[in-house]
Amino acid sequence: MNPTPPAGFRNPRAQYDFKGRTCSITGVGSYLPQRVLTNAELEKMVDTTDEWITTRTGIRERHLAAADESTSDLACQAARRALEMAGVTPEQVDLIIVATITPDMPFPATACLIQHRLGARRAAAFDLEAACSGFIYGLEIGQQFIMSRTYDTVLVIGAEKLSTITDWRDRNTCVLFGDGAGAAVLQNRPHSHGLLTVCMGADGAKAGLLSMPGGGSRCPATAESVAAGKHFLRMEGKETFKNAVQAMCTAAEESLRRCEIDIARVACIIPHQANRRIIEAVRERLGATPEQMFVNLDRCGNTSAASVAIALDEAVRCGRIRRGDLILLVVFGAGLTWGAAMIEW
Ligand code: ACO
Repeated sequence: MNPTPPAGFRNPRAQYDFKGRTCSITGVGSYLPQRVLTNAELEKMVDTTDEWITTRTGIRERHLAAADESTSDLACQAARRALEMAGVTPEQVDLIIVATITPDMPFPATACLIQHRLGARRAAAFDLEAACSGFIYGLEIGQQFIMSRTYDTVLVIGAEKLSTITDWRDRNTCVLFGDGAGAAVLQNRPHSHGLLTVCMGADGAKAGLLSMPGGGSRCPATAESVAAGKHFLRMEGKETFKNAVQAMCTAAEESLRRCEIDIARVACIIPHQANRRIIEAVRERLGATPEQMFVNLDRCGNTSAASVAIALDEAVRCGRIRRGDLILLVVFGAGLTWGAAMIEW
């Protein structure tokens, strides 16, 4: 028998319609590398000031992985913490999805390297690339596998070592990014809380706003491509900013509409941590209060696919999110890509 949806919900898709099958987040984990790079240190590297960075972005410091630490190292740490919270052994994991734009190498997939390191012998594994939106894309894909009864336990990881594709001479971008990883365990929990809806979108016409042109089949690595800086992330900041606000609002509003709930009922909104001014613009347009927003970008900077995954873990572990709360994750990234996920915790 299907459980009765909580009052005020119209569940648009699966959760209460699949004979009691739900997709719940049963564990979260994150990892930030030890080394912290402050704005004061950046002042010595490029022509910038702590004042400019904090007022224009809200970022005060970011974590950087060590030279011998790769994306999979960060991801494994976050994954172990999520598995521990969920009470799941690596052998119980059916599928590992890793969202990243900084894989350990072009192939094999970083997810396979993580599968081996965790000892998740039964798990299928693949990477997905949706830039800063990757974790939400991963949640939706994981949910589909669970609701279709293909798998019972899916590990979704967002992990980045953006410091390797950052041009440390370019003040327009180098002050923005950080390294880190976040993970979530998705499981079927009959008659329980879970993912209510996930929205995803993309607009490839604006791919040029934010990209790393070198290293793929269009522009393979050569001495010339390296000299021309084509293996660094490039961004048209102002246009990206405008698109981020628009797309995040659209995705958040679509989630609210699908679930037929008012923004005031959402206990915690976790936006992509790119810029405090973007978060503020989204908050205002949605009609949310500052108290509803969860922000950690002052300490982490923009960690792309890891961003909302890290923030979700921090919000859960510090008690900001409680059982039964409605949580709204909202993301935006290169592609362009965007998305939102409404979760009943
Ligand atoms: N220190 C000092 N001055 C700087 C710095 C800096 N670090 N960076 C830029 N400036 C200067 C510029 O050169 C420019 O000077 P000019 O007027 O003499 O030309 C001036 O500051 C203003 O530059 P703008 O680009 O107009 O600054 P803006 O207020 O737009 O802020 C920023 C730039 C922070 C990049 C902002 O546009 C932004 O956050 N954009 C969106 C980023 C984002 O959302 N990314 C999400 C996806 S990331 C992903 O997918 C990996």
